[in-house]
Amino acid sequence: MKVKGAIFVGQGSEMPLEDLELTDPGVGEVLVHYGASGLCHSDLSVLNGTLPIPGPSILGHEGAGTVEAVGPGVEKVKPGDTVVVSFIPVCGQCFHCVRGQSQLCEVGFFAPPKFTRSDGAMVGGALGGCATFAECTVIHERSVVKVETDVPVEQLALIGCGVTTGTGAVLNTAKVEPGSTVAVIGCGGVGTAAIQGARIAGASMIVAVDTVQSKLDMAMKLGATHGVLAGGGQDPVTAVKALTQGRGVDYAFEVIGHAATLTQAYNMVRRRGMVVAVGVPAFDALLEVPIGDLIFGEKIIQGSLYGSAQVSWDFPRLVGLVESGQLDLNAMVSSTISLNEVNDGFRAMQAGEVIRSVISY
Ligand SMILES: NC(=O)c1ccc[n+]([C@@H]2O[C@H](COP(=O)([O-])OP(=O)(O)OC[C@H]3O[C@@H](n4cnc5c(N)ncnc54)[C@H](O)[C@@H]3O)[C@@H](O)[C@H]2O)c1
Ligand SMILES: [Zn+2]
Ligand SMILES: [Zn+2]
Repeated sequence: MKVKGAIFVGQGSEMPLEDLELTDPGVGEVLVHYGASGLCHSDLSVLNGTLPIPGPSILGHEGAGTVEAVGPGVEKVKPGDTVVVSFIPVCGQCFHCVRGQSQLCEVGFFAPPKFTRSDGAMVGGALGGCATFAECTVIHERSVVKVETDVPVEQLALIGCGVTTGTGAVLNTAKVEPGSTVAVIGCGGVGTAAIQGARIAGASMIVAVDTVQSKLDMAMKLGATHGVLAGGGQDPVTAVKALTQGRGVDYAFEVIGHAATLTQAYNMVRRRGMVVAVGVPAFDALLEVPIGDLIFGEKIIQGSLYGSAQVSWDFPRLVGLVESGQLDLNAMVSSTISLNEVNDGFRAMQAGEVIRSVISY
C-alpha cells in the first residue's frame, strides 16, 4: 500500500516527506495505521548526531493506532484493535524476558526494512521498526500492545515512549516509596512524566529543575512541589540541598542527557540516595564520580531503559491511571501538528516551547 513518511536522510538535514510503498504483513507481522505520534528527544538526538544512527530510515518511536491487517500466525491482535507500539520488542522467551526484564529483551532494536522509496531502495524504522513518522508501519506482533480505552490517541501515543519511560523510571526502576523526596532534572516530555510518577508514588517533595520557566510552571501543575530555575545563577545542587536540611534528596532523576546534569543529580542525592540516569547523552560521554564519596555515601547509580517497563502490563496500567485521572496526559500534549510539520516540531522542542508536539494522522 502507498503511505506518506518523513525520511531521515542524514544528520543535520530536515526530513523530507515522501510517498512510499509499504509491504504487506508477513508471518507474525501486523499492519498498524497510526492515529498519532509524539516527538521524543531521542529522535532529535538522531537528527543532530548525538546518537550515531545512520540514515536513511524512518524515525519516530512513540505512537499508537489501529491494527489494519495481520499476517499469518498472528494471535496477539486482530484488525480493529487499538495498540500502543513498543520501541523495544518483547519476545517473552529470552534470558531477560523470562526474568521480568523485557526492557532488555535480546531481540533488540533491529527490524527489517518494510518501506520502498521511489528509487527502489528499501528503508525501515530506525527504532524497533516503529517508524511512527509514517502513516502506517508493518511491525512484528511482539512490538504491539493492545489497549481498550476511549483515551484520545494523541495521548495514547505518549505511552509509547515518554510517559512509560518517565513514570517507569520512578515506579519500576527506582521504586520510589510514599513520603520520599525526589528531584527531577529536565522537565520535558519524559521529565514531566517522571514528576507525575513521583506524585503517584506518594513522594512528599518533588523538586523540578529546568532552565525554562514555562517548563517549571507545567511541572508544578503536574505535581512538583518546588521549582528550581537552573542556569540563572541558581545552582540546582545548592538549591536542592537547602530544601533537605543539607542532606540531599532520596532520589534524583536526570532526564536531559548531559554528563554535567547527571553529575548534579549525583551531588544532590543524600547518602544512600539513588541517582537514576534516564537522559541519553552521546555514547562516549562519561560520568566521573569520586569513588570515596560513592563508598562513604553509599550512593546508588542506576540506569533506566524504557522505564524498566514490562510493556504488556505497563501500557494498560498507565491507560488505567489516565482514565482514573491520576495521570494527566492531556496537559502534556502542547501542540497537535500534521506530519508535514514534523521538522518544525523538532525546532519547537529545541527552542523549549513545548512539552510534547504530537502528530495527528
Ligand atoms: N532511557 C530511556 O529509555 C529514554 C527513553 C526516552 C527518552 N530518553 C531521553 O530522555 C531525555 C529527555 O527526553 P525528552 O523527550 O523529555 O526531552 P525534552 O527536550 O522534552 O526535555 C528536556 C528538558 O531538559 C531541559 N534542560 C535542558 N538543559 C538543561 C539544563 N542544563 N538544566 C536543566 N534543564 C535542562 C529542557 O529545557 C527540557 O525541558 C533525552 O535524552 C532522551 O533521549 C531516554
Ligand atoms: Zn523516546
Ligand atoms: Zn525477550
